[in-house]
Amino acid sequence: LHVNWDVTAAQKGGYPHFMLKEIHEQPESIRATILPRIRKGVPDFTADNIPGSIFDGVNRIIITACGTAMHAGLVGRIMIEQLLRIPVTVEIASEFRYQNPIMDKNTLVITISQSGETADTLAALRLAKEKHATTLSVVNVKGSSIARESDYVLYTHAGPEIAVASTKAYTAQLACLYMIAFQVALYRGTITVEQGAQYIKELQAVIPAIEETLTYADTMNDICKSLVNTEDLFFIGRGLDYALSCEGSIKLKEISYIHSEAYAAGELKHGTLSLITEGVPVVALVTQENVSAKMISNIREVRARGAMVIMITNGIADADDTIYDYNIKLPKTSDSFAPFTAAIILQMLAYYTSVHRGHNVDQPRNLAKSVTVE
Ligand code: G6P
Repeated sequence: LHVNWDVTAAQKGGYPHFMLKEIHEQPESIRATILPRIRKGVPDFTADNIPGSIFDGVNRIIITACGTAMHAGLVGRIMIEQLLRIPVTVEIASEFRYQNPIMDKNTLVITISQSGETADTLAALRLAKEKHATTLSVVNVKGSSIARESDYVLYTHAGPEIAVASTKAYTAQLACLYMIAFQVALYRGTITVEQGAQYIKELQAVIPAIEETLTYADTMNDICKSLVNTEDLFFIGRGLDYALSCEGSIKLKEISYIHSEAYAAGELKHGTLSLITEGVPVVALVTQENVSAKMISNIREVRARGAMVIMITNGIADADDTIYDYNIKLPKTSDSFAPFTAAIILQMLAYYTSVHRGHNVDQPRNLAKSVTVE
C-alpha cells in the first residue's frame, strides 16, 4: 500500500490555507485565553502570577508593539482609558525606543507580541526596564525573549499561528487587553464587582458571536469578487472603529497588495476625500452608537463622490439603502465588544480578496512572520 502523505496539507486541517484555518479557530482561541482567567464571574490573574499590587501607584500606561499587535493596542487603549481613567498611549516600538521616552516607576509598560521575538518590541521592553517602569507583556509564544524578560506575562492561548498575516493572535490580544482593563479597574475600584461581572459576561458572549460571524464566509467571498481589480481602498471609522480600521487596512495590504488607508472618519474632509472618485471602495465601520449619526453623514459624503460603500454595522445604523452597496450586519454585541466580530469580517475581507487576486495568502511577498532584525 502506498499513501501520498502531504504533511502541510494535513496541518491545514482541510482548509486551503493556514490563514483561513486560523480565522476559524478564533472561537476556540478566545475561549482558551479568557476562561482560565475567570473566577467567580470576575477576572483573576492568580494563575498568571500577576498580583493586583503591580497596579499600585501606576499613573500612566504605555502600550508598545509593532504591526498588528500595535493595532490591538489601539483598541486596548480605548478600553483601558474608559474603565480606568488613567492616560494610556500607544507607541510604535521602533519609534518609541529612539525617542528618549518619559517613564518612571509609576509607569506600566505593556508590550504586545505574538512571537515574543520582534526586535524593536524587545528593545522597547529593555528600555522600559532600564527606566524602572513595571513591564507586563501579552505574548503568544511561551518562553520567548519578551516573555522571559518581562516582569509579568499574560499569555494569549491562541496556539501556533503559521500564516504571516496575524488573525487569531490579534483577537486573543484584544481578549487579554480587555481582561487587563476589567481586572485593573476592579482592583482600583473604578468599576464595581457587578459591573466587572457584567463585562465578563459580555466578553464570553463574544465567543458565540464570533461563531455566527464565521458563517458570513460565503457572503464575504462574494463581496470580495467585486474587489479583484481594485487599486485603492479606504477604511473609515470613529473610536474603536477607527482602531479596527487600522487593522483592516494592514491586513488587506499585506496579502492582497491593494493600496489602502485607514482614516478617522472625521478627518476625511482634511485630505482623503480628494481621493474618492467613482467606484473607489470604502469600508465604513459603524458599530459605535455614540458616533453612528456622524458616521452616516461621513458615508453620505463619500457616497456623493461615487464611492462603492461596504458598510459594517452592529444593529444600530438602520440607514437607508441608498448609502451603501453592501451592509454587513454583525451579530449583536454591546458596542464595546464589536471589535471582536468586526475583526473577523475584516480578516475575511482580506483573505477572500487575496484568494480572488491569486496571491500567496499565507506567505505574502517581502514579509516575514517574525521580524527579529532591525
Ligand atoms: C510582522 C508580522 C505581523 C506582526 C508583526 C509583529 O510584521 O508579519 O503579522 O503583527 O510582525 O509581530 P509580533 O510577533 O511582535 O506580534
